[in-house]
Amino acid sequence: MRVLLTGATGTMGRVVTPHLVSSGFEVRALSREPRTDPAVDWRRADLATGRGVRQAFDGVEAVVHMATLAHRGRRTATVDVYGTRGLLECARSAGVGHVVFPSIVGVDQAPVGYFAHKLRAERLVADSGLGWTILRATPFHQWLDGLLARAPFLPADRTIPWQPVDARDVAAFLVDLLTGGPRKTIENYAGPEVLATDELAGQWRRARGRRLPLPPVRWPGRTAAAQRAGLLNGPARGRITWTRYLSPLGASTEEPDIAAEYGGPSIEMPDRRGDEGYEPPTRV
Ligand SMILES: NC(=O)c1ccc[n+]([C@@H]2O[C@H](COP(=O)([O-])OP(=O)(O)OC[C@H]3O[C@@H](n4cnc5c(N)ncnc54)[C@H](OP(=O)(O)O)[C@@H]3O)[C@@H](O)[C@H]2O)c1
Repeated sequence: MRVLLTGATGTMGRVVTPHLVSSGFEVRALSREPRTDPAVDWRRADLATGRGVRQAFDGVEAVVHMATLAHRGRRTATVDVYGTRGLLECARSAGVGHVVFPSIVGVDQAPVGYFAHKLRAERLVADSGLGWTILRATPFHQWLDGLLARAPFLPADRTIPWQPVDARDVAAFLVDLLTGGPRKTIENYAGPEVLATDELAGQWRRARGRRLPLPPVRWPGRTAAAQRAGLLNGPARGRITWTRYLSPLGASTEEPDIAAEYGGPSIEMPDRRGDEGYEPPTRV
């Protein structure tokens, strides 16, 4: 099956793309930059302008739409909402049978900022007339790892429960979804354990041997309130724990080198200060 991937170079895409290739899918991937890779048919395209998008659809049977421009205000709408609309129009013209759309567990519980854009995009997918499956996941280990690696300190709200999931578990589920065809449902997919912010960051500090100050704060805003209430967590479907993800650089030498294999601490995260929806935490 020929699958078109958007966002193949992102945190999720870097895990999903090789997984789909090794599972036997014929992968065509979009990026704004020129790329070469014998295993992937790279096409240059930009969802914000539409450049190259329609031309990438010949022979495509399914789409995994991972592209996003998170926490960038109107620019987020341009990519995540209007870009999604344009992509869906092209998918309809090309007779695509299934669009899998990754989203975030609880986007409907705090529809402000980035979550509001994601929710609008979800609705476009569900109303597209195409076969679809929405896959809402909790934050990826790979994303949290990159975030913590970049942070000089982490204002840590101990009342916030996290249920991170490994992008490899999500990638394996994606293969099941593509193989099984459109479900026309929203699938929630969370990791195997719930950890408070300080537990999560404390484990990371020990595993990475880093001194990351964790000043206690209370995070403000609707998104934090929803997360504090557990509304951004979901069914524990993933199997790889945060401890296991971190283990290659920790005490255990028996685990596979997960972090090195999947980007690990080198993942670059955008600086969110000044972005729409970002509210600086308050000290307690
Ligand atoms: N990160 C998490 O923890 C997490 C958790 C749950 C759900 N999700 C969801 O998973 C999906 C992927 O997230 P991610 O964290 O992997 O994103 P990411 O690391 O920020 O990657 C964003 C991707 O979008 C592409 N992109 C951005 N603007 C584009 C444009 N104008 N045209 C075409 N492509 C564009 C980029 O490709 P190029 O730069 O190559 O063009 C890049 O591959 C999103 O829907 C997100 O909401 C993420």
